Amino acid sequence: MFTKKTITDIEVQGKRVLVRVDFNVPVKDGKVTDDTRIQAALKTIRYLQDHGAAQILCSHLGRPKGEPAPEFSLKPVAERLETLLGKPVIFVPDFIGEQAQYAAKNLKPGEILVLENTRFEKGETKNDPQVSARLASMADLYVNDAFGSAHRAHASTEGVAHFIPGVAGFLMEKEIRYLGQAIAEPDRPFVAILGGAKISDKIGVIRNLLVKADQILIGGGMANTFFHASGYPVGDSLVDVEAIPTAKEILAEAGNKLRLPVDVVIADRFDNEAETKLVQVGPIPDGWRILDIGPETVANYRKVIEEARTVVWNGPMGVFEFPTFAKGTFGVAEAVAACRGTTIIGGGDSVAAVNLSGLADKITHISTGGGASLEMLEGTLLPGYAVLQDK
Ligand code: 3PG
Repeated sequence: MFTKKTITDIEVQGKRVLVRVDFNVPVKDGKVTDDTRIQAALKTIRYLQDHGAAQILCSHLGRPKGEPAPEFSLKPVAERLETLLGKPVIFVPDFIGEQAQYAAKNLKPGEILVLENTRFEKGETKNDPQVSARLASMADLYVNDAFGSAHRAHASTEGVAHFIPGVAGFLMEKEIRYLGQAIAEPDRPFVAILGGAKISDKIGVIRNLLVKADQILIGGGMANTFFHASGYPVGDSLVDVEAIPTAKEILAEAGNKLRLPVDVVIADRFDNEAETKLVQVGPIPDGWRILDIGPETVANYRKVIEEARTVVWNGPMGVFEFPTFAKGTFGVAEAVAACRGTTIIGGGDSVAAVNLSGLADKITHISTGGGASLEMLEGTLLPGYAVLQDK
């Protein structure tokens, strides 16, 4: 549940406001190729600008190792932000050094400054208090709008709020409200759809959802590990070997809450042009691998999804990047889009699939967080949110 102060609870006029955003976006040849996360932060940025704050924006991009790496510069992001806002944005190729400090000091109300990648500084990911203190010294207030990074306790996402008052931005508020509500007080039936390659990334999520959800529908590579754990040979399918004992435990605990595919599309190689067969779930011959869920499974899942009042979906049902194996994922996307309850999608791959299917505008909430949304589904309190001031 959302219990924190937001930017509307504080006076920002004439204040210097440090805003942590998640501008970890794909960049190719110096250009942003998907600006969804930048667009998602515009509401907060515009509000602060309209209310006379001098804004200092900071974000990480990629995973540089604590030192400058030109391919991870925030410069292309600052340029895209300027285009989207239609207003000037100042960029400094510095995070907490003298150049950044000078630019922040000279920033006037309504102006926007973008700092260089927070992860060019070693202490950022270590949550070094010296980095937080230096960052905090540039501003009067801190706004965390970086939901996608809120599961990281880093200097710019958590540490800094120990030095200056911290509140939530609009995106953080929206994300926590939707995901928090789904987990804490969902309208029922509450159906979770989980896919993606590996079970091991989602064990905590499955365990928490076994308690909270009414049904869990499984697809994608993670289903293979459950098949293997139930005693079926899965041929050359991807299996998360280390997770097999946990998969067995989960199957034993889950009863009929956990639904597995009943039919699957198998292929003789990992290729869009591979030879394919539609088979009922059972032993898969060697040389064949499961790459999608089948139509009977989609129909079964659709019935469950149609009746749901809350749906949370994370992870594709098959290798949807290959059109031959996209039917399961798109079929589930259609069912989620048709559901009249609250529908929430998180995780980069399932969001990409929904965008590709053209159904994004039929979804109640598409999360900008991958790891962060999974941790919320696990029931973990996100440190970048927890540190903000209570209302
Ligand atoms: C994300 O893309 O999920 C966030 O920006 C966090 O990035 P990270 O996994 O590199 O911390």
